[in-house]
This record gives sequence, C-alpha cells and structure tokens, in this order.
Amino acid sequence: MPKIKLAFIQTSPVFGCIEKNTTDAVRRIAALDADIVVLPELFSTGYQFKSAAEALKYGDDAVSGYAASALSAVAKEKGVFISAGIAERYKGKAYNSAILVGPSGFIGVYRKAHLFWHEKNIFAPGNTAFKVYDIGLARVGMMICFDWVFPEVMRTLALKGADVILHPSNLVLPYCPDAMITRCLENRVFAITANRVGVEERIKGRALHFIGSSQITAPNGSVLCRAAKTRAVSKVIEV
Ligand code: ACM
Repeated sequence: MPKIKLAFIQTSPVFGCIEKNTTDAVRRIAALDADIVVLPELFSTGYQFKSAAEALKYGDDAVSGYAASALSAVAKEKGVFISAGIAERYKGKAYNSAILVGPSGFIGVYRKAHLFWHEKNIFAPGNTAFKVYDIGLARVGMMICFDWVFPEVMRTLALKGADVILHPSNLVLPYCPDAMITRCLENRVFAITANRVGVEERIKGRALHFIGSSQITAPNGSVLCRAAKTRAVSKVIEV
C-alpha cells in the first residue's frame, strides 16, 4: 500500500436534521487533506428511531439520496473516498447501511449484519456480502459498529484482501476501541472507527450515551490516534 492519509470525522448530529448534519459533514470533509474519510453510523439522521416506520420515513436512497449525493459531490471536488453510515430505504425496507463513494461517485453499499439491541425492531437485517473494493490507493472493506463484536467480519474482509477497514459507528459500550487493537493485530489491517458523541433519549428510559473515542488503529495493534469522548473532532493520519 502506498502512503495514504486516513481520516475520521467524529460528529454530534441532531436527530432528524438530515440537511444540517450532512452540510456540517461536507464542510468538515472539504476542510481536510485526506485520501479516505470515515463518518459515523447513521451520520445524517441520528440514531434512535422510535419505530421501523420512522426509519423508513427518514430513510433515503444509497445512491441518489440527499446524503449520498452531497457526499459524492464533495468526494469528486476533493478527490477523496468517503464511507458513511445512513438510514437506507430500499424496496420498502429500512437498512442500517454504510455507503462508499469516491471521485467517480457511488462505489458500494454495505447493510449492517449484526443489528444492536433495539435496532432489530427498526431495521431489516443486512443482505449484502462482506465485500472488498480496490480503490487504487488501497483495498477497503466496510463494517458497521456492533459488527466489531464478531471476529468473523474483519476476518472475512481480511481474507478477501482488505488493507483498511472502514468502520462507521455509534458506539455506546466502552469496549470497542480497545478490541480494535486485537482485531487489527490478528488480521494485519488498518481500521478507521468513526464514532459520534452526545446523548439521545427519544424513547423515555432508553437514553444512549455515545462514547466518542473514534480511532485509527494500525496492523501492529498501535492506536495511531483516539479522539476525545465528548467533542466533535476530525483527525487525519498518514500511514
Ligand atoms: C451499535 O452497533 N450502534 C452499538
């Protein structure tokens, strides 16, 4: 792999404000000098949907939707590859998805396989393969947040040739940043985990505290950077 600049953008989204969340992210991407940027899971909508119907209402197309189009446009303008989590509406179902776009537009979509907790009542289970894309600079594969718990996900991507794992997340459990050290070490890959900060309690009694701590991890297990727990922040690391 040639020298490459990997980045995450740790966000603080406002639930349901797709235009604002997307515009903020695009502005922050435009300010970075990076080759690959990862945004959090569900970066454009926020996380805690009250029902499957609500996720469908906010869900959008992975190629031509508002967030996908805006990210494709900035990817083209900046010559950057971007992976971001969105609520995807596809054939009457809502998926917790990650898209990959680049300077030539849409590249691929991954639909989350391991839905976390109440996500199972909101989203349809993922029906895409764990796929690796050769983007020229590197071979990359996507997984989403809770997928980190299942070693098979990163193993599969690594066996398919991935150099860099793109990991949009909305982490609430504290274990993932340290676990990524082992995941990267055992699979000899880089990983970019992009998380969000803040609290959502759209359902009373089910407050979710997002832990920040976005991280870029190296194949030798070193943590190249770990973000603060409570602040929106962007970071670029050349590897
Ligand atoms: C998670 O998968 N969002 C914890």
